[in-house]
Amino acid sequence: MKTKTSLILLAALFGANSLFAQQKKAAGTDQEMNTFINNLMAKMTIDEKIGQLNLPAVGFDVTGPILSEGVDEKIEKGLVGGVFNTFTPQAVRKLQKLAITKSRLKIPLLFGYDVVHGHKTIFTIPLGLSASWDMSLIEKSARIAAREASADGLNWTFSPMVDIARDPRWGRISEGSGEDPYLGSLIAAAMVKGYQTNSLANKDAILACVKHFALYGAAEAGRDYNTTDMSLIRMYNEYLPPYKAAVDAGSETVMVSFNDINGTPATANKWLLTDLLRNQWGFKGFVVSDYTGINELVAHGLGDLKTVSARSLDAGTDMDMVGEGFLTTLKQSLEEKKITQEVIDLACRRILESKYKLGLFADPYKYIDEKRAKTEILSKQNRLDARKIAEASMVLLKNNNQLLPLKKNAKIALIGPLADNKRDMIGNWSAAGDWKQAISVMEGLKNMAPDMNITYAKGANLVDDPAILKQINANGAEITADKKSPEELINDAVAAAKNADIAVVVLGESAIMGGEATSRTNLDLLPNQQALLKAITATGKPVVLVLMNSRPLTLSWEDANVPAILETWFSGTEAGNAIADVLVGNYNPAGKLTATFPHSVGQIPLYYNHKSTGRPYDGQSNEKFKSRYIDSSNEPLYPFGYGLSYTTFSISPIQLSSKTLTEGQGLTATVEVKNTGNFDGEEVVQLYIQDIYGTVTRPVKELKGFKKIFLKKGEAQKVTFTIDAALLKFYNTELKFINEAGDFNVFIGSNSRDVVESQFNFTK
Ligand code: BGC
Repeated sequence: MKTKTSLILLAALFGANSLFAQQKKAAGTDQEMNTFINNLMAKMTIDEKIGQLNLPAVGFDVTGPILSEGVDEKIEKGLVGGVFNTFTPQAVRKLQKLAITKSRLKIPLLFGYDVVHGHKTIFTIPLGLSASWDMSLIEKSARIAAREASADGLNWTFSPMVDIARDPRWGRISEGSGEDPYLGSLIAAAMVKGYQTNSLANKDAILACVKHFALYGAAEAGRDYNTTDMSLIRMYNEYLPPYKAAVDAGSETVMVSFNDINGTPATANKWLLTDLLRNQWGFKGFVVSDYTGINELVAHGLGDLKTVSARSLDAGTDMDMVGEGFLTTLKQSLEEKKITQEVIDLACRRILESKYKLGLFADPYKYIDEKRAKTEILSKQNRLDARKIAEASMVLLKNNNQLLPLKKNAKIALIGPLADNKRDMIGNWSAAGDWKQAISVMEGLKNMAPDMNITYAKGANLVDDPAILKQINANGAEITADKKSPEELINDAVAAAKNADIAVVVLGESAIMGGEATSRTNLDLLPNQQALLKAITATGKPVVLVLMNSRPLTLSWEDANVPAILETWFSGTEAGNAIADVLVGNYNPAGKLTATFPHSVGQIPLYYNHKSTGRPYDGQSNEKFKSRYIDSSNEPLYPFGYGLSYTTFSISPIQLSSKTLTEGQGLTATVEVKNTGNFDGEEVVQLYIQDIYGTVTRPVKELKGFKKIFLKKGEAQKVTFTIDAALLKFYNTELKFINEAGDFNVFIGSNSRDVVESQFNFTK
């Protein structure tokens, strides 16, 4: 909050009548804000109003083909509302100063950036974060990200990404929370809260931007930017809830998706952006296009730039990211009466309101504080938190004969192109992250036990598939082939394994194989890595496979042949330390998958909350006319919610407080969970419900609650879930949110497959 003295000083510096001296306090009442903005807008020319709708990119790390030109000059002319892709107090101060000292109305700029899973202290990629099922840790990751970003001059993040994704071919599955709308909604709200805090006026609060609205994760064939086509009932029940949860949690901004929805791309979709988002959901903030999203409507086939710009604004897109279609065409469209003054005013007002809520008119330099940048960024505490969060995100997929945790005195062969690798640890969309700050697995093990007996062998190039290499190197991967031949690399690794008690093999994708524009049609480990793994397992030594990847992979061979598998995603700056903690059992893994791991690409899309069909397959019979494959099981390799622990848990049969539920009353479902193994540990106890008969078809199971509990070995605890009528609601074909009387199955378990079951009846 600004002190009175500094306000007076600022007012003196910029003249008592200057605009920003009028915002007396960081957060005014709605009425004060309206008066302020009315006064300001009364002074604005049409060019200045359109200027507020312009969001050019400055600096580095652009994600599209265009980098805005002449930004300084445009800022001076009042033709820029915000900029993105630049940060540091120095860089931000320079541009903000231009706006405040050189532009006629001294309207401060927004500074946006993709702070997706951390700013400088990088956390596990979002898909991994979601596997923690821990809302307070997830919120904390966003809080730390906002503190660091705001100390670096930023006031707006393009996060959270909440697109439901059931197709791991789509590389952007890594940026979201997986396949489930219930869990995805909780995470969306936690992230918004973490970024924005309880008041945007706080000096370390930044604007959240929920993206990509909407359905971006449902791109056909998992190919990025591809068309989506979806029934409304599926949209409402399965894909829209996380966006709505973010809006309900107060996300100040929304980013539109690139894809087509029901025949109209989201960017120009009035039904989506006005009827649904604003009129039904009550969204009050502003909507930004995605990178050149408006210009791309030309290629979508909606018309020329002038037409699509007018149409996007009219549909409800308020700000134009990079493309400058608004800046260059809206005035003419207004003159030609293709759009109204009112829609321009409305968009401009919404953007000014966000600036007001941040308190930028009171102090445009609010986010520029070199001292904070020095103390808060990559602080010891932030790194400790990142380590803890990374640990909580890891998923133990297999652990035969309790191969893990490693014995600290074991002779270890540490093998694989990701074993002593820093570069890939921070994953994709770690935009401001510095990989040199990251800890490799090798370093992590050494940090923990300097005298551990470790022999390292690279074993394989990270990528040597020519098609993938060509693509990722063209986009900055800088992967070069090792001086040794593939055979020599494997031979070295085999020799190391033979000499050791146990081989820890660290394999997966290159970080740049995940995220935007990284769709894959084959989700096996890359052939050269597979060859390495096969050679190591052939030595007969016990093998632990440590995986790093941005998406579910197809791991049937690995599951059948490798005794222990730990999924670590890309776990951020503290990756190596966190992985070391888990490998030796300083931390007992408890993560649970939030996206199904299929056996094969042919099964995709594969997700736990599917419909039954009229000919469900029981997984056993040879009957022909069932909903099944003739060459594969219907079942996933690892189901949603799955993840092991170094200990084991038992879950008792369900005790229902009543076999009937009535509107206005709750019933409870209780199980006793017991730690039956040899380690203390956490379990995520999951509640699923099935609406057996409905007026519309309903999923076989839907997540409706979960509790993460810690149990000492031998300890038992009762876990109780309350089920009420609200939990049974869904959208019917008329898109009414209703519940229906009837019988329901209730399942509780350690994942979506392994459950105990009971039944109750709901009467209205
Ligand atoms: C991505 C967005 C991102 C934006 C700005 C786009 O290409 O789709 O997720 O926020 O670029 O970097």
